[in-house]
Amino acid sequence: MKAIRLHAFGGPENLRLEEVDQPCPGAGEVLLRNRAAGVNPIDWKTCAGGGASAFIGELPFIPGWECAGTVVAVGSGVEAFRSGDEVFGFLRFPNPAGCFAEYVVAPAGQLARRPPGLELHAAAGLGLAGLTAFQALHDKGGVQAGQRVLVLAAAGGVGHLAVQLAKAAGAEVVGTASSANQEFLQRLGCDQVVDYHHGALTARINAVDLIIDGVGGQTAIDALPCLKAGGLMVTLPSVTAAQVSAAAEPQGYRVEGIRAQPNGRQLGQLAELAAAGKLQLSLGQVLPLAEVAEAFRLSASGHQRGKLILDI
Ligand SMILES: NC(=O)c1ccc[n+]([C@@H]2O[C@H](COP(=O)([O-])OP(=O)(O)OC[C@H]3O[C@@H](n4cnc5c(N)ncnc54)[C@H](OP(=O)(O)O)[C@@H]3O)[C@@H](O)[C@H]2O)c1
Repeated sequence: MKAIRLHAFGGPENLRLEEVDQPCPGAGEVLLRNRAAGVNPIDWKTCAGGGASAFIGELPFIPGWECAGTVVAVGSGVEAFRSGDEVFGFLRFPNPAGCFAEYVVAPAGQLARRPPGLELHAAAGLGLAGLTAFQALHDKGGVQAGQRVLVLAAAGGVGHLAVQLAKAAGAEVVGTASSANQEFLQRLGCDQVVDYHHGALTARINAVDLIIDGVGGQTAIDALPCLKAGGLMVTLPSVTAAQVSAAAEPQGYRVEGIRAQPNGRQLGQLAELAAAGKLQLSLGQVLPLAEVAEAFRLSASGHQRGKLILDI
């Protein structure tokens, strides 16, 4: 099969399209003919030697943690899926999952069926970003109807899904983005969109119960006073989580870091919302697998709207 492999940590120029052996499903696993994979910041961060690189083990490594495709074989003990099922998943994170490849072996419990109303490319980008948004809002954030939620980087892969999931939970949602993304976010249901280029957020946003922070670092620290006394920020970029937490503590704000967890059951809930038209994945660009280096460059620009997808 064809797969993208990394032989040495470094920039996108280190990625190679190669012919490799097809993997075989073991007990509790499913073999997919993979049709599409989502690209996320964690992919280029890990390939550069940061991100989840400590979990990668020996190189070469096939990057990619989320995918959508068709089941072609199942291992022993798998009852939930059979050949021909259309599925999608967020797999094995932070260990290697090998989704930038024509065939992928997935733990059955980390997949969900792709309903007819959920398009292939949208499904491929929903796993990682969707579960991050869901777990940040619900598992870490305990979001409640009537609360005020601020999403930093609301137009990004995680952010645009967090906006919709927070609305679906009955929250009032404020999002930050540049002016080019204002209309996009209003269409997704954002009640207030604030252009972060024009002055301090604290002058325009207050009394927030929960912040979902997709930016991290000083931007996250500067946004803390938008919270109510004792309010909570769930900060996504792991690399600055300790710095943000240290800044929050003396001010009486709570900060939680997160590592998104594969979860087939929660993925099924996202699929239902998407099929019912209540959760839309916005496709940034769809590129062929061979153009993965360009996808990494686009993602690393930091200004991607919605999700980048590799078509396989
Ligand atoms: N811990 C975890 O498990 C986990 C899981 C997923 C993601 N993450 C991390 O969370 C972060 C966000 O991920 P993502 O996939 O959503 O990234 P992404 O799609 O690359 O985010 C791009 C978006 O960021 C916005 N942006 C950039 N700087 C901004 C700023 N200062 N204020 C507001 N918006 C800004 C851009 O909007 P404009 O173009 O309008 O500027 C763009 O839409 C990344 O650092 C990622 O590694 C962590």
